Amino acid sequence: MGSSVEQNILVTGGAGFIGTHTVVQLLKEGFKVSIIDNLDNSVIEAVDRVRELVGPDLSKKLEFNLGDLRNKGDIEKLFSKQRFDAVIHFAGLKAVGESVGNPRRYFDNNLLGTINLYETMAKYNCKMMVFSSSATVYGQPEKIPCMEDFELKAMNPYGRTKLFLEEIARDIHTAEPEWRIVLLRYFNPVGAHESGRIGEDPKGIPNNLMPYIQQVAVGRLPELNVYGHDYPTKDGSAVRDYIHVMDLADGHIAALRKLFADPKIGCTAYNLGTGQGTSVLEMVSAFEKASGKKIPIKLCPRRSGDATAVYASTEKAEKELGWKAMYGVDEMCRDQWNWANNNPWGYQKKL
Ligand code: NAD
Ligand code: WQD
Repeated sequence: MGSSVEQNILVTGGAGFIGTHTVVQLLKEGFKVSIIDNLDNSVIEAVDRVRELVGPDLSKKLEFNLGDLRNKGDIEKLFSKQRFDAVIHFAGLKAVGESVGNPRRYFDNNLLGTINLYETMAKYNCKMMVFSSSATVYGQPEKIPCMEDFELKAMNPYGRTKLFLEEIARDIHTAEPEWRIVLLRYFNPVGAHESGRIGEDPKGIPNNLMPYIQQVAVGRLPELNVYGHDYPTKDGSAVRDYIHVMDLADGHIAALRKLFADPKIGCTAYNLGTGQGTSVLEMVSAFEKASGKKIPIKLCPRRSGDATAVYASTEKAEKELGWKAMYGVDEMCRDQWNWANNNPWGYQKKL
């Protein structure tokens, strides 16, 4: 279902993990896309592969701009030369541990970058935004599944940037009700495009579970540290809601369509998860099954700040966005392994 009028979307952080997968889907759905990315946590090769995946015709509808949201001039340059119908705002730093050691970097990048973006959007009367929020805004939820109206709290500076940016979005909408903003709270994005050409490629040692498992599987790391084996869960390891990145990408298309179609959307938050909880040990087994590789594990103490079990209520997104995750853990592991197996060193050609 291509869009009848070609809508022009600015995608900040479009060279990153979730950004690249979403850009592929946007182009396939008939949108025109401009990316702005400073390549702080990504490489231009990822954008080249997006072009390869969508083919030469759709590629013509994709523009890449090297730019930093912290420089208002970089954003202004884009808005002054074309009209955007909406912005999907992925750009941000996301490493929880790094944010604890260097909170100013997170406040500077995530908060100032976003404020610059809002200012420029307002100046050019582009008032529709899909914002990358996170399940981190639920902190350690007292109940599961997490519902969008739960109390919000942040556990670390990264999480605080997401919480503040949600509050900023709500304040902007209160002051200027014509803004339409969808806050998408992603749970744990994993997997890769089924082609195995694009995927997550973290710099340095991964913080997150799946990229870590992937690097053990290809021999880059010797074993997986399993943080916590005494949680009150089915097998003692912590439980999360893993969601395939292609489902997430489609969630953004659904959110955009909602923004365009519903003048009453206001500033609304939606969970993007599967609603299924999977433990760390279950994820390891699923990956072993998908890859045929043994993942050696070491049982370790809990990681500080980690919650026991977090998963989404998916009702609101299903009902209001008409979106539901299609893929389960087996497909997530299959596609993650396909990406890893074809690109053991990520986008690098060799070490
Ligand atoms: P990513 O690091 O792969 O992508 C983010 C992109 O933004 C990168 O390409 C980076 O170079 C770019 N960027 C960062 N700061 C910028 C700036 N000031 N100006 C221009 N570009 C900038 O991360 P991702 O996993 O694709 O995450 C995308 C968004 O989703 C982030 O906002 C993240 O906080 C949020 N999120 C991610 C997860 C996750 O686990 N991956 C979960 C919840 C929310
Ligand atoms: C998942 C589970 C770990 C690594 C983080 C951010 C959150 C959001 C998503 C951006 C936990 C365990 C992990 C390892 C392990 N990101 N684990 N060994 O912590 O649920 O969420 O990413 O918004 O804000 O906090 O994801 O992948 O780091 O961990 O045992 O080497 O895997 O303890 O139980 P998390 P994760």
